[in-house]
Amino acid sequence: MEDVLGFAGRSVVVTGAASGMGAATAQTLVDVGANVIALDIKPTSVPVKASFEVDLRDPRTIDDTVAHIPGPVHSVFSCAGLPGPPFTEVDTMLVNFVGARHLIEGLVPKMPEGSSVGMIASAAAVGWQQNLETINEFLANDTFDTAKAYLEKNPDVMGGSGYWFSKQVINAWVGSKGADLIGRGIRLNCINPGPTSTPMMPQFHAAVGKELVDSAMGPIGRYSEPEEQAWPLVLLNSPRMSYVTCEQLWTDGGFLGALTTGRLQAGFAGN
Ligand SMILES: NC(=O)c1ccc[n+]([C@@H]2O[C@H](COP(=O)([O-])OP(=O)(O)OC[C@H]3O[C@@H](n4cnc5c(N)ncnc54)[C@H](O)[C@@H]3O)[C@@H](O)[C@H]2O)c1
Repeated sequence: MEDVLGFAGRSVVVTGAASGMGAATAQTLVDVGANVIALDIKPTSVPVKASFEVDLRDPRTIDDTVAHIPGPVHSVFSCAGLPGPPFTEVDTMLVNFVGARHLIEGLVPKMPEGSSVGMIASAAAVGWQQNLETINEFLANDTFDTAKAYLEKNPDVMGGSGYWFSKQVINAWVGSKGADLIGRGIRLNCINPGPTSTPMMPQFHAAVGKELVDSAMGPIGRYSEPEEQAWPLVLLNSPRMSYVTCEQLWTDGGFLGALTTGRLQAGFAGN
């Protein structure tokens, strides 16, 4: 069987394509024959079909980019992100969720039935269900500007970092927005990676300490490589996964399963 994942000739948008998991995702998609459109604040060295410089903190550059992306768009891979400190809580939320949501919603009219959106959240989202009341209050702010204003007015919800809250919000949004989008035939899912060896990792170590990051490793006992996150994300967005939506896939080396069953006594519990 050729074109096993069904991406040959499909038009896909990848954010964060300049580095780490986004670059690995863009390269994987080039390798499986997709027409890749790369979005990042920095240039990418992946040999993509087209690339746009976009700042996910700025809705005008997002709207301008959306206007220049030709349809149809068959899949969106939302990989761009900030780690929290040294970046501000609000900037972290804007890049990791608010701008990502604005981009995805802008692209939806170009997405035909059978298309898909995959986001990268994080194992740092663990326990997001217990925070649903706050998350839903935030999500009620359904435009870029109202969401930003809510965050500026309610800094406490971001827990001093913005990182884990942004990833919890993605997990919740995938469940709720996914239920709307499937009415248009568009699937929405995310992956929750464990610690991964990318250029972001030194920033995590500096922000919370290597010991805490290491405690989020699953029983697999090591960090993942960017390609080990790119493949599950590509698989989730593949048309072969046509019955899978509103799903959070824990690509965490067994972290959640071991934590939930008491096999892992982690200092790390998300927040
Ligand atoms: N590395 C980890 O351990 C880990 C674990 C779980 C989840 N994640 C998440 O994985 C995703 C990819 O991160 P990574 O580890 O590959 O990091 P990375 O730093 O290598 O890549 C992040 C990318 O986002 C881009 N970006 C940053 N700010 C932007 C902006 N304002 N507008 C547009 N693009 C912007 C960067 O230029 C970069 O290319 C992120 O969402 C991150 O939160 C990372």
